This record gives sequence, structure tokens and C-alpha cells, in this order.
Amino acid sequence: MTRTAAARARANIALVKYWGKRDLRLNLPATGSLSMTCSSLVTETRVTFDDAAPRDEVLADGAAAPEAFRQRASRFLDRVRSLAGMAAFARVETRATFPVASGLASSSSGFAALALASTRAAGLDLPLPALAALAREGSGSAPRSLLGGFVELPAGMSPDGSDCVPVQVAAADAWDVRLVIAVNGAGEKAVGSTEGMERSRATSPFYPAWIARGAGDLEAAKAALAARDLPALGRVAEANAFSMHAVALSSNPPILYWNAATVDAVNRVRALRAEGAGAWVTIDAGPHVKVLCGPGDAAAVADALRGVAGVTEVRVERPGEGAEVLG
Ligand code: DP6
Repeated sequence: MTRTAAARARANIALVKYWGKRDLRLNLPATGSLSMTCSSLVTETRVTFDDAAPRDEVLADGAAAPEAFRQRASRFLDRVRSLAGMAAFARVETRATFPVASGLASSSSGFAALALASTRAAGLDLPLPALAALAREGSGSAPRSLLGGFVELPAGMSPDGSDCVPVQVAAADAWDVRLVIAVNGAGEKAVGSTEGMERSRATSPFYPAWIARGAGDLEAAKAALAARDLPALGRVAEANAFSMHAVALSSNPPILYWNAATVDAVNRVRALRAEGAGAWVTIDAGPHVKVLCGPGDAAAVADALRGVAGVTEVRVERPGEGAEVLG
């Protein structure tokens, strides 16, 4: 017998970052984060449980996924099987519209889509807290992709993570802003987020200061969002991102996610800002530069980024919707 379901989720980009865990086993964040779910960074995933399958199989864009990826998905499916009280292995077919594992937050949409598709295929219709807990065990940023628009994931204080549940702060159509993404370098990132965060926690002398500033950045970002104050949100987001990278750089061995195009793109945005544009950068665990701006500045920002040597693609994202089950 087979049981199947498919789901779609969109990657989110954090404006206040999660970089550090308060519980490694439950994958609980040390600080709260705030993100924008993107409109067109889409992952679609179909999960088919098959009583006759000899093991879990993962196909990414039609080809067998690397073994490490298959094992990570298989461990995730073990959780779903134990929740549903079933034993069947599954075939996972997943497609993303953007480069995977390079700092474009693909794990966020990937595990949000996998959580929704696999639970539905297993006959479960989980409420948000339980679905978020499952998605979080796949990747700490994934719970935010379950919801659309602007999403807060509080760190919570409870040891079991029951108060680490995503909250929509503003719906996708509530504020018309853009994230212009300059893709550069398509290869896999040098140090994965999980490893990078743990290295920062264990070795960076700045890690305590990074954790201490988290709550203030989150409150300032939420206040700016509530006031629809783009310069205020942009300033917090840019400062928060550079602080995260300061922690990564001060880890031992140091973690450098940037390349020459990253720095050039940041300087282009700063030059545009000096000319009066309202545009602020954020950078995740990869070389791509993401620029928060209003709709009126997006074309100029995109043009400027296309002119940066090494930038291979420029995408303009709007706030997008949360995860959904596909018919
Ligand atoms: C820099 O969610 O990929 O994008 O929970 O270890 O899988 P794990 O980490 P992941 O890390 C995201 C890090 C970030 C910041 C953010 O999205 O908040």
C-alpha cells in the first residue's frame, strides 16, 4: 500500500538572525529571530510512504540526492513514523527553484515542505506548535517558513521547546517591501549552519555579546515593522547581520562566508544609500547579499547588483505566503 501527499513552502530570510542554539538535541534557538517569507524561493516536496520500499529514497530535482542529504531526511522521517505509529519507508521527491545549500536558506523551505508533506502522507494533521517542533528538528529556520509574511520565532524558555512556536507578525500583503537577492557562487557553503553555530558558541569570544544583543534587536525590528518604518527595520537588520558575521569570523577556526562579490555588493548598496536610496543589506551563511528596500528602489538596487563582478543572478522577492498542502 502507498500513501502520498505533497506540499509547497517558501524560503525565509532572517532580518534578525538565529545563530546559536540553547539546546542542541531539540534544536532550540538561543535567541529569537524575525524573518520575511519570500514569494518565489519555492520548494515543492512529495512524500510517498510505500510498504514495499526497502529504505527511504530521496530525489532532488529528479536525481538521487547525496547520501548525507538522504540520511538527514531519513532521520526526519523516523520522527514522523514514530509520531504516526507506522513503519513504512518513503520516497521523497523535492524540487527547489533556487540554489540549495549555499546560504539562500533552502533548508527553511525544504524542511517546512517536508514536515507538511510527510505528516499529511502519514495521515497526521498536526496543529502549528507540533508541526513547527517537527520542522525545527529538521532545521531551526524551518518553522518560520510554515507562515507567510513577517514571522517571529521566539527562543522561548521552556526546556521542551513548547514556547518556541512561530508567530506571524504581519501578513504577506500587509507591507509592500522587497528583498533583492544577488546570487554569487553556486557551490555548497564551506561550513554548514549547524556546525558554524556550534563552533561560534564554543569558541568565539564575542558569542556572549551576540546573544545579549538578540532581544534588543528583535524588539527594535518588531517596533519598526509595526510602524512600517523601513529605514528603522533596515538599520537593525544590517547591524544584526554584520554582528552575526563578526561572531562567525571570530570563531576558531574562523568562518568566512563572504567572497569578493559579497563585499562589492555591500559597497554598491552603501553607495546607493549615500545617493538617497532606502536599501539595507543582510547576509546569511553563504556569499549572497540580500537587500531590503521599498518597491520604488528595487529596480535601481537590482541594476546596481547586476553590475557586480561575480553576481550570476539577481532575484527580486516580495513577502510570500506560508506553507500549503498541494492537491
Ligand atoms: C544564518 O536553520 O540552517 O540563515 O538549525 O542548524 O539547521 P540549523 O540551522 P539553519 O540556520 C539558519 C542560519 C541563518 C540565520 C537565520 O535564518 O535565522
